[in-house]
Amino acid sequence: MKWQDIYRSRLTTASEAVKHIKSGDRVVVGHATGSPELLLKAMVDNKADYENVELVHMVSMGQSEYCMPENCNHFIHNSLFAGGTTRKAIHDGRAVYTASHFSQIPRLFTERILPVDVTVCMVSPPDEHGFCSFGISVDYTKPAAESSRMVIAEVTPHMPRTLGDSFIHVSKIDHIVECDSRPIILNPPRTTEIDEKIGQYCAELINDGDCLQLGIGGMPDCILRFLKGKKDLGIHTEMFSDGVVDLVEAGVVTCAKKNFHTGKMVATFFMGTEKLYNFVHNNPMVQMFPVDYTNNPTNIAKNDNMVSINSSLQVDFAGQAASESIGYKQFSGTGGQADFVRGANWSKGGRSIIAFHSTAAGGKISRIVPRLDEGTVVTTTRTDIHYVVTEYGIASLRGKSVPDRARELIRIAHPDFRDDLKDEFRRIYNVKI
Ligand code: COA
Repeated sequence: MKWQDIYRSRLTTASEAVKHIKSGDRVVVGHATGSPELLLKAMVDNKADYENVELVHMVSMGQSEYCMPENCNHFIHNSLFAGGTTRKAIHDGRAVYTASHFSQIPRLFTERILPVDVTVCMVSPPDEHGFCSFGISVDYTKPAAESSRMVIAEVTPHMPRTLGDSFIHVSKIDHIVECDSRPIILNPPRTTEIDEKIGQYCAELINDGDCLQLGIGGMPDCILRFLKGKKDLGIHTEMFSDGVVDLVEAGVVTCAKKNFHTGKMVATFFMGTEKLYNFVHNNPMVQMFPVDYTNNPTNIAKNDNMVSINSSLQVDFAGQAASESIGYKQFSGTGGQADFVRGANWSKGGRSIIAFHSTAAGGKISRIVPRLDEGTVVTTTRTDIHYVVTEYGIASLRGKSVPDRARELIRIAHPDFRDDLKDEFRRIYNVKI
């Protein structure tokens, strides 16, 4: 049968498509800005037919109605990254969090550790060969679709057609819902004077020709603004936002010095505005791969001078970065932080940066602490960490003794907390500061 005939024979509506999902099914939901919100809404509307449908989702940027109190008798949310709309459900026990490096999530599905019944996703319209692109969300969405019993996809002209290992043939999609859905937009964060100071310090650590990874949160994006004077930067990352487009247009990001995928920006998902989505559409400079490829530390390390830039919530004297929980409360997720820190460590000339404001809660809490709060989990270990940056400077921890690490960190703590931190230092290490 011609692919066009297969395509036509599988066209349906969102409300009809979700009737194929059965009670007890595990449903993997397309990631982040590629979330199929129309299908999720249809599932919530159809909830009377469901009991114990497990929704596995990472960064949820949509409504996340499936984990609202009125829907929790029908759905169980298994979160791979807590966010604004799912955090409370996890804290209140209506949802659970599963910890995994982002690079390892595909194997949960492909090795049937979490066997997938259904993948719901959003893709671009088919090209002349019958291939749809996973567009701005290739990450775990493609491997989940490839290992699930059934695929239900929103097909929308607003999903960019990204290139690389980002395609699915229409014959692999069981139910096709043509629609006018748009990928979710993430506007650039507003930045403060503190962000700018941190951005300037980070820029000092980046050289012409470096290859960058940019993490999640306001900080990594802000740093890009301070890179306008650099030359021939490369990108091998999990995700990027609008800021990278400006750097390509300014001729700063060329990827010319990359020794792995030379001339190409490598990524697995995007979060930004239409400006970014238009930029990545059909753009041969942008190569998308599933996350077990982009985030595999061995692949990351194939780039010389790899610099990872991420953020954290709390760092203790040892240099352990707690980037995903505040006490027992899951704030975000492991994501690709440790994947990229490890990859950068193994890269020839590689460096990793963890950047954050020195305080939280309006200046009442120091984010540099003698010990992590009870229940707080470590995302990046002390043996992996390299540079830590706050608005008070750069701490370099690689190769430092245990007391020297603490000295470095106290130096970049907020001045209001330094005396207390020094007292704790003397008590813990029994040496002069
Ligand atoms: N104690 C209590 N509250 C804290 C805190 C602490 N130690 N540290 C931060 N907070 C609060 C902040 O004050 C802020 O509160 P507000 O929103 O009321 O102002 C909030 O937590 C978020 O902090 P912020 O620094 O603005 O977060 P962010 O949006 O820049 O994200 C991380 C930072 C660490 C949460 C984010 O980078 C992350 O999830 N990292 C882990 C995964 C990862 O790195 N992936 C990388 C590859 S994509």
